[in-house]
Amino acid sequence: MAVVLRMLVCAFLLLSPLVTAAPYDGQKPTSSQNDADNLNLVVEKDGSYKVNVRGQTWLTSAPTFFNVDGQPHEEGGTLALVVKDSVQGSDHFGRYTLYNFQYQAASSRINTNIRVYEDRPFVYFSQNYETGAKGTKAAEVGDTVSGFPSFRVQDVTTNKGPLGYLAYGGIMTGDTNKQFGKFSPSGLHNNDGLDFGPITLFDGSGDTLIISPASNFMAVSDWFNKVGDTNTLSYGIMGGVDTVPVGFGVEFIVYYSSQGINQAFEGWGGHLRDRYGRTDKYVKNDLSINYLGYWTDNGAYYYYLTEPQKTYQQTILDVKVNADQLDIPYKYMQYDSWWYYKGYKDGVKTWVARPDIFPDGFVSLYKNLGLPTVAHNRWWANDTTYAKANGGQYNFILESSTGKAVPNDQTFWDDLMRNASNWGLITYEQDWLNTEFDGVEAVHSDVTLGDTWLTQMASAAAKNKMTIQYCMAESRHILHALQTPVVTQARASGDYHPGTDQWKIGVSSIFSYAMRIAPFKDNFWSTTVQPDNPYKHVTEPNTETQVTVAVLSTGPVGPSDRIGYSNVSLIMRCCNAEGLILKPSKPATAIDDQVYQTALGSDYDGVNGEVWTTYSEVGGERFGIIFVPDITGQFSITPSKAGFNMTKNQLAVFEAHDTRTMAKFSDDQPLHISGCVPSTPCIYHATPLLSQNPDVFLLGELTKIVPVSPQRLTNIDVTGNDVKLYLQGVPNEVAHFTFSVDSNMVTISCQYGSRSAVLDLKSKSCQ
Ligand SMILES: *[C@@H]1O[C@H](CO)[C@@H](O)[C@H](O)[C@H]1NC(C)=O
Ligand SMILES: *[C@@H]1O[C@H](CO)[C@@H](O)[C@H](O)[C@H]1NC(C)=O
Ligand SMILES: *[C@@H]1O[C@H](CO)[C@@H](O)[C@H](O)[C@H]1NC(C)=O
Ligand SMILES: *[C@@H]1O[C@H](CO)[C@@H](O)[C@H](O)[C@H]1NC(C)=O
Repeated sequence: MAVVLRMLVCAFLLLSPLVTAAPYDGQKPTSSQNDADNLNLVVEKDGSYKVNVRGQTWLTSAPTFFNVDGQPHEEGGTLALVVKDSVQGSDHFGRYTLYNFQYQAASSRINTNIRVYEDRPFVYFSQNYETGAKGTKAAEVGDTVSGFPSFRVQDVTTNKGPLGYLAYGGIMTGDTNKQFGKFSPSGLHNNDGLDFGPITLFDGSGDTLIISPASNFMAVSDWFNKVGDTNTLSYGIMGGVDTVPVGFGVEFIVYYSSQGINQAFEGWGGHLRDRYGRTDKYVKNDLSINYLGYWTDNGAYYYYLTEPQKTYQQTILDVKVNADQLDIPYKYMQYDSWWYYKGYKDGVKTWVARPDIFPDGFVSLYKNLGLPTVAHNRWWANDTTYAKANGGQYNFILESSTGKAVPNDQTFWDDLMRNASNWGLITYEQDWLNTEFDGVEAVHSDVTLGDTWLTQMASAAAKNKMTIQYCMAESRHILHALQTPVVTQARASGDYHPGTDQWKIGVSSIFSYAMRIAPFKDNFWSTTVQPDNPYKHVTEPNTETQVTVAVLSTGPVGPSDRIGYSNVSLIMRCCNAEGLILKPSKPATAIDDQVYQTALGSDYDGVNGEVWTTYSEVGGERFGIIFVPDITGQFSITPSKAGFNMTKNQLAVFEAHDTRTMAKFSDDQPLHISGCVPSTPCIYHATPLLSQNPDVFLLGELTKIVPVSPQRLTNIDVTGNDVKLYLQGVPNEVAHFTFSVDSNMVTISCQYGSRSAVLDLKSKSCQ
């Protein structure tokens, strides 16, 4: 139908609705309305286009291209524009104008279109392979076989200054090779190819664009082509694909916000989550996100190491005995890659426990330990015993060229997870995602296999009431999790190694939070010196930063200490008495000023260092947290710069280690920060005035990293000049809550009789 219309409508006119998709629900978005007006797309008859922000051109198109029949076909060359038109339509997201272009590339017919929404601050670019295509493979796997959109990379200066960028890239949620700089041929160090990520452009005023895939996340890449004088950033199907099936299509989105980077990611992520229906119910109910657990992965004391002359089985049991003696309430045990059978070049052969590791078997260990299991897995070796070709029961694609394999069988995943439930698996940790994707030719040369692999894994986890943690995930895996909400958590930086700065997850957490995936900082030591560890002479001088980052991430909190070397009081600042993590309402993320400064340098007056913020929302009030683990020079932060949207009430701010620092906090009364280093990080709490006469501020439970957490306080009731806190805890647990009453500190203790209590400020009671 649409094709027929296009053949008829050759003039480039705006016509009354010809294309109608899903019915428009009639709800006109209001908050993003102005942002929608600030984003404009200029589309020319020849197929070129520009992305304008407030009338200034931020992005200019480069020629569209498609590889077909072994040759590239480019606009202005052998790519023929057959038909163009524009029509209006509407879908779930409202009314749009659709600009259609139909191309002939050798023997293939390929359509592109640009969908510009009237009331939404985003634009979609789509490629649709009407007849499919053959011979599409690019020169390099990291290139793309098509380019639409394609943008020229050139210096752009808005009236605020040069355009900067943040490009996520590499693994661990785009953290390991993220790049910052000025958007120019020499300044762009975009990590393109298979491990590319979303790119964000900004001028420091708040105006921000995000460019990313919007569909078929496992099949697309971006390509920064800088051959000779060419400087183009192209989006298309990934370079290893040699055949595109009939009807296959890919989409990319350009999203705009006037409210800075954090808000742009919130809007972009919110739109994509809405589109793919990603629910947060799995994140909310994930035991390994909600409770303290013990970890044995890289960086941990017991990583490929047992107690002297003991098996791993005995070591794990001893960890638990010691934790019980010290009242450290670990609620699960993580088992890393040291327990299962490895095959060709250390890929997985059989994912079951070796008898030399657990002599009595995993089921027996699980029962004796009494803790649920989080277990690691890696890429599949081509000699895996599960594959039919190796005598197993399941369909695998085995690759002799790479020595690896990929399962292609829903039953395999269902059986793997069901079998693992016998030894208590609650969270399946899929590590080496990049190796399974980049390292197996079959996966990155096929447009659907990557999606099948991850979808089958997720479906099996959901059936078995398990969640999934991604590790070494490229951005494509993270985006794919929009379709698999059982992926609840993902590593957000490189492996822990005592003493390093892998705790710096403030920037990757912005991306992670936009997807509603809990960012994981990895395990950590809670004391500085842990003798005879497997890492030779390392120490962890920044234990407080380690614990704080873990708690503020909202992801797993996982100490990994040697038996007898835990700082119990430090660990217990995370949690209530039974290990429930007292976390904030969202992950702490780097403030916009940190990203602007990193990208724009001397062209921006921001902050040099790490300044992350988050908040707890309780009873309609927001309690802000400003975490500063490292800063050079001085920085004056205001509630606006902190991203706190708490204009309702007057605010006070204090440093967590010294309540005497309490001061007013507003955009006219900034907080001056300096002298914070990873060994003694600064943590500031912004708290709203709850009632006047007397002036009451809640400072909260000061022995905890997050003194006001929705995991502890379910509501705050202010009536007249009395304040009541509705609390939850563990029977016999004691908690102390501090208030400022007309600038005097008042602390009230609660001993929980049951799981809940009500604290009354006026009568200084808690029951
Ligand atoms: C796995 O791949 C290696 C490397 O190509 C090859 O030598 C070996 O025979 C393969 N093994 C199996 C079981 O396919
Ligand atoms: C699951 O367990 C059954 C029974 O032991 C076994 O036959 C099967 O191979 C296992 N499958 C997987 C994928 O673990
Ligand atoms: C435990 O942590 C607290 C808080 O950071 C610190 O004051 C104390 O010195 C630490 N104790 C040990 C034994 O490291
Ligand atoms: C700030 O809060 C107000 C009122 O709750 C809300 O309407 C607005 O969207 C929020 N703005 C941001 C940037 O979160």
